[in-house]
Amino acid sequence: MKNSVSTFREAKSNGTKLTMLTAYDYSMAKLIDNCGVNAILVGDSLGMVSLGYKDTLSVTMEDMIHHTKAVARGAESSLVVADMPFMSYQTSVYDAVKNAGRLIQEGGAAVVKLEGGATVIEQIKAIVNAQIPVMGHLGLTPQSVNMFGGFKVQGKDEEAAKKLIEDALKVEKAGAFAIVLECIPYKLAEIITEKLSIPTIGIGAGPHCDGQVLVYQDALNMFSDFKPKFVKTFSNVGDVINAGIKQYIDEVQNGSFPTYEYGFNISDDIIDKLY
Ligand code: KIV
Repeated sequence: MKNSVSTFREAKSNGTKLTMLTAYDYSMAKLIDNCGVNAILVGDSLGMVSLGYKDTLSVTMEDMIHHTKAVARGAESSLVVADMPFMSYQTSVYDAVKNAGRLIQEGGAAVVKLEGGATVIEQIKAIVNAQIPVMGHLGLTPQSVNMFGGFKVQGKDEEAAKKLIEDALKVEKAGAFAIVLECIPYKLAEIITEKLSIPTIGIGAGPHCDGQVLVYQDALNMFSDFKPKFVKTFSNVGDVINAGIKQYIDEVQNGSFPTYEYGFNISDDIIDKLY
């Protein structure tokens, strides 16, 4: 069954936990989709895990459209969520609607995600008015890494915690259908989740959110630059890839691959005429 914003609404009302994982290309999107996640996020985390940048700030609209297209081709039943990259919506409400529209029209996403609270309310309203569903994103919003002074847990003091609750309510009121809560204390995430009528999707926000998202390279141990505390390794795919590639190198070097079994025959009559 195709997931949609209605799936998210229903999950909140009946208490079913929502699942979301990132993907950035066709084959991974197919694998993840086949497993039955509710949503695939084409996150701007692709800047770090796929393109090798130190943060997400260099990711462009062209990058996002390129990767979203590939994921959308591979996702049959998951809801495809495309991240709005840095400077694609902060600059103006017009830019926000225009670029959200490009992610839907050119990228093939069903919904967009953007970071921020009070400062992006007009953008969220305008995108929703343009009939594009919006997923909010609060807490450790990576596009604000320079304002935060690094990738740090957010909402730890009273003022910051209150601000996060207010922001969440504003994002909901502006029309968002769900909100990602990243790297905030789990008791704060629980309060926000209780106060909202739309689902919260946690990442480093504890067990009380309505759903969970992870970057797939983190969950499958395929990214070795760093590992955030909130990441659980569900499978050591990195080790499997290492072993497989080393075996490939060995077999090519020692001549055990490829054998005739992996090739194509031709009749000897033809071969005789080639000498
Ligand atoms: O870009 C991303 O992958 C994200 C998730 C970490 C929520 O925004």
